[in-house]
Amino acid sequence: MSVVGARPQFVKLAPIAHAVTEAGHEHVIVHTGQHYDPMLSDVFFRDLGIPAPDTHLGVGSGSHGVQTGAMLSQMDAVLDRFTPDAVLVYGDTNSTLAATVSAVKLHYPVAHLEAGLRSFNRAMPEEHNRVLTDHAADLCLAPTEVAMAHLTAEGLAERAVLVGDVMTDVLFQIRDANEASELRTPLAGVAADGSYYLATIHRAENTDDPDRLREIVASLALADRPVILLAHPRVRVRAAEHGINLDQGSLVSRDPLAYPDLIAAAGASAGVITDSGGLQKEAFLLRVPCTTVRHQTEWVETVELGWNVLANTPAEIAAAIARPRPAATDATPYGDGHAATRAVDAIVSVLGSRS
Ligand code: UD1
Repeated sequence: MSVVGARPQFVKLAPIAHAVTEAGHEHVIVHTGQHYDPMLSDVFFRDLGIPAPDTHLGVGSGSHGVQTGAMLSQMDAVLDRFTPDAVLVYGDTNSTLAATVSAVKLHYPVAHLEAGLRSFNRAMPEEHNRVLTDHAADLCLAPTEVAMAHLTAEGLAERAVLVGDVMTDVLFQIRDANEASELRTPLAGVAADGSYYLATIHRAENTDDPDRLREIVASLALADRPVILLAHPRVRVRAAEHGINLDQGSLVSRDPLAYPDLIAAAGASAGVITDSGGLQKEAFLLRVPCTTVRHQTEWVETVELGWNVLANTPAEIAAAIARPRPAATDATPYGDGHAATRAVDAIVSVLGSRS
């Protein structure tokens, strides 16, 4: 059983769903409903060929406790209805934590995909979600050597397996399919290829403090070329609340894109500016320079290899986006594009006998 609820989890689910079916196992998909806007949810199922969820909890938005609690209050019954041999949870969202807590208490074996990532920033809700999930899970599926080292440092080495990063699997497939279909960047009418920066900003730490959001928006408005901001609903809501204009100077806001369009748009950009975890890595895999508007990153390899720079003040953001192109690299810290098959093999061999 896979439990998903938020946009990045649908991306990770795609190669897993394929690999589970390929290996001849039954796969139940539970959608918590954390993300419900069609552009944050339905289009991912459609574009990535993911089977429709077997059940949908429809929890919607709310404060952390309300949202997580709404999921928890329904998950016990879902587990008892489907009695899975193993439960797979993804990443670090409230959906991840809720499914984990419910499953382990009912003694269903839990595997955590994307285990071992750490920002060491305890103000991030995701940091608590991932630490708590790793420590509760029976099997920690790590995407990188660095993640394995964190799990080892926390005494979880015996439960950990390095499988690689499933987002690499999806990205390579979509990039190749886009090239084969000659998909034009969806931003063609807005800015010519190579002449714009692509931006996403949605994290609570950047959106919920009006001064912080105002400063980031002002920095992007001063960029030397158009900055196309793909605005998550959260940033739109917060900007409207605080009277912050998302269309000023170089800054142009647009709605979020479907995944193949996002990859085409990122690949054709002069650089990515983001606070998303996934997009930092996608930029690296596409070899597009990335500026990350955060104080830490879980994907330290992108920084060490020179393709990602952490920038927070207006001066840092301006310097980072105008920096020269990094040195070419053929490093593959995120695996070979076959992580999903390895993850499914590990789940079957480690958890299959326990159920
Ligand atoms: C969640 C994850 C975050 C992940 C992100 C991907 C947690 C704690 N955070 O953050 O790690 O990077 O998903 O996008 O789980 N909203 C809508 N429509 C939707 C969903 C949300 O309008 O379909 C708005 C609502 O105002 C909501 C706000 O966005 O209150 C925040 O949504 P929520 O799911 O709580 O967190 P994200 O910021 O999306």
